[in-house]
Amino acid sequence: MTKILNKKILITGGAGFIGSNLCEYFLVDNEVICLDNFSTGYRHNIERFLSNSKFTLVEGDIRDFKTCELAVSGVDYVLHHAALGSVPRSINDPITSNEVNVSGFLNMLTASRNANVKRFIYAASSSTYGDSEALPKREDVIGKPLSPYAVTKYVNELYADVFSKTYGIETIGLRYFNVFGRNQDPNGAYAAVIPKFVAQFLNHESPVINGDGEFSRDFTYVDNVIHMNELAMLTENPEAINTVYNTAFGERTTLNELVNTLKEFLSAYDKEIATVPIVYAQNRVGDIPHSLASIDKAKALLNYQPQFSMKEGLKEAVKWYWNNLQEKSKK
Ligand SMILES: NC(=O)c1ccc[n+]([C@@H]2O[C@H](COP(=O)([O-])OP(=O)(O)OC[C@H]3O[C@@H](n4cnc5c(N)ncnc54)[C@H](O)[C@@H]3O)[C@@H](O)[C@H]2O)c1
Repeated sequence: MTKILNKKILITGGAGFIGSNLCEYFLVDNEVICLDNFSTGYRHNIERFLSNSKFTLVEGDIRDFKTCELAVSGVDYVLHHAALGSVPRSINDPITSNEVNVSGFLNMLTASRNANVKRFIYAASSSTYGDSEALPKREDVIGKPLSPYAVTKYVNELYADVFSKTYGIETIGLRYFNVFGRNQDPNGAYAAVIPKFVAQFLNHESPVINGDGEFSRDFTYVDNVIHMNELAMLTENPEAINTVYNTAFGERTTLNELVNTLKEFLSAYDKEIATVPIVYAQNRVGDIPHSLASIDKAKALLNYQPQFSMKEGLKEAVKWYWNNLQEKSKK
């Protein structure tokens, strides 16, 4: 059972990786509206919810203000996740990333304020730490953004802060750190590293690590992210609202460790994977060497306790990808 009950929740980007997991979780005890234009999300992520009378799909674009107004009407909470992710995508096409991530965000925030929603919770990003070398990352010490994507996510925080001060709308930003888990897309040029490596291993192809593999990330299982969204909805502590939180497990893993753990877990399903070699290539532009979150603020103000370590989450994710592959091969 969810701790949020009988509310009307708008999940933008609800057909995407994180959004579809949020839809599934909150739909158990609430009404869920999913707003998505399927640009990077998939109908198959939400197909099974379509027959549920508590689920509504609004197929539309957050760049259109009227669509945002329609979707947010009568809503208690907004979990804003629609955006164009990926640093390389934003480097290739900064204009579209800005239109969706900044103008689209402002549309949703304005529509939410006009509709008097109880709270606007949004997907912020660890990319906001930019060139700050401090480790672990604490919410109040950020550097300069290293990509157009990072700029858009930082601007989201600035708008949310200004809107809460100027108009009184309650906002909470969740700075996600390398989220992974079920429904994450392994395909395309902008796929995240975990689903991409899993798909490569399953095809007996070598995963390619950019750099020497000693860069590290605070890989965060999607269930910890769901938990943080729920805590952000639940809190009534004024100190905990109108601010941002790192959303992570709070440990870092190098890419070499990651790829070896994946290999080990996947080999339990397919022994041949143990023999697949790893390939190393050049570092990517805009990549920071290390990322590690302090989760002290979320622990202190939201009572956050991450439920899955990186390895526990990875085991679940690998099982999901394997089962998914078996189901597809039966069709
Ligand atoms: N996955 C991560 O590790 C991570 C890390 C930091 C921040 N985030 C943020 O979390 C959010 C969700 O990310 P995700 O990994 O689930 O990505 P995703 O691409 O799977 O989901 C984004 C969803 O937004 C939808 N969308 C994009 N543009 C839209 C538009 N103009 N109108 C309506 N819908 C639109 C897409 O179709 C997709 O379903 C994003 O805001 C992303 O920036 C994710």
